Amino acid sequence: MNKQVTSLYKAYEKYFPVGAAVNPLSVGKHNNLLLHHFNSLTADNSMKFSHLQPVEDTYLFDASDMIVAFAKKHDMKVRGHTFIWYKQTPDWVFINKNKKPVTRKILLERIQKHIHTVMTHFKDDLYCWDVVNEAIADDQGYLRPCKWLDIIGEDYVAKSFEIAHAENPGSLLFYNDFDIIFPEKRNKVIRLIKDLKKRDIPVHGLGIQAHWNIYEPGIEEIKTALGMYANLGLQLQITELDVSYYKAGDTNKLETPPPELIERQAEYYDSIFSLFRQYKDVITGVTFWGVADDMTWLKFYPVPLRNNWPFLFDADHKPKDAFYKVIDFYLQNQ
Ligand code: GLA
Repeated sequence: MNKQVTSLYKAYEKYFPVGAAVNPLSVGKHNNLLLHHFNSLTADNSMKFSHLQPVEDTYLFDASDMIVAFAKKHDMKVRGHTFIWYKQTPDWVFINKNKKPVTRKILLERIQKHIHTVMTHFKDDLYCWDVVNEAIADDQGYLRPCKWLDIIGEDYVAKSFEIAHAENPGSLLFYNDFDIIFPEKRNKVIRLIKDLKKRDIPVHGLGIQAHWNIYEPGIEEIKTALGMYANLGLQLQITELDVSYYKAGDTNKLETPPPELIERQAEYYDSIFSLFRQYKDVITGVTFWGVADDMTWLKFYPVPLRNNWPFLFDADHKPKDAFYKVIDFYLQNQ
């Protein structure tokens, strides 16, 4: 299949690697699409703290090893995702035997031990890591309230980067977050990155998650944010791209998308990839949060069992209008 279809990653070879988030099930199910269209992978869940070390000192690498082996076999890059996050981290990390919060010192030691074990395990099979995920507060305030912040204090972010850098100085280290195109979070991200850089903390990249929808963020807003982020002096990656058919807060359910929305999604993809190409000097990767419309977290969140079709490939793994828009620039130049 697909052999006659232009390869997405080959179309973008002069720009940036094109990635997909996967799990052992989707690697099997989307095998052909992955091999033909993608040259980078991210584990959607299996490298998170709760998956790798659900119980203290018990590490589970089976799922992530399978993904890394697949990537190596097919010469794909792998992004590490993620060490320090307020979600998907087991409770044991934050408490002692008496179920009381651990001290700052112990929590930092636990971070160090986890990062040491995981980075030693993967060595250089992963070229980068999302060291800290989603540390910025969604509404008022600077950093998101969470146990890392409660126990360690604001420098949990800086400390995590220092630890990761000491464990593997060759790894590119990213700060990764969502909704950071919108001015409120954007300005806090800029503050965070500038602060880290001023203190010589080893942060090399900013991950823009990009769980977007066909209405927002607007193309101008994305352009403005990319321009500002490009000036920070680090590399940028789009790390978790999907384009939903529903605006944030919309609880309606579509059975199938109406033609005008299919068209709108194709236009949206066209515009964002054209922007990404413009920023190719700073953008070092664009990763979709999945592969094709038959498997997406958006069918469960935020409205359970609601259809959604966020990718370039449909549920039958056929390229959509959006796909053809995204590779059109390449075909025009052939
Ligand atoms: C966030 C996380 C991802 C994933 C998505 C939802 O963006 O960074 O790891 O959990 O939410 O699937």
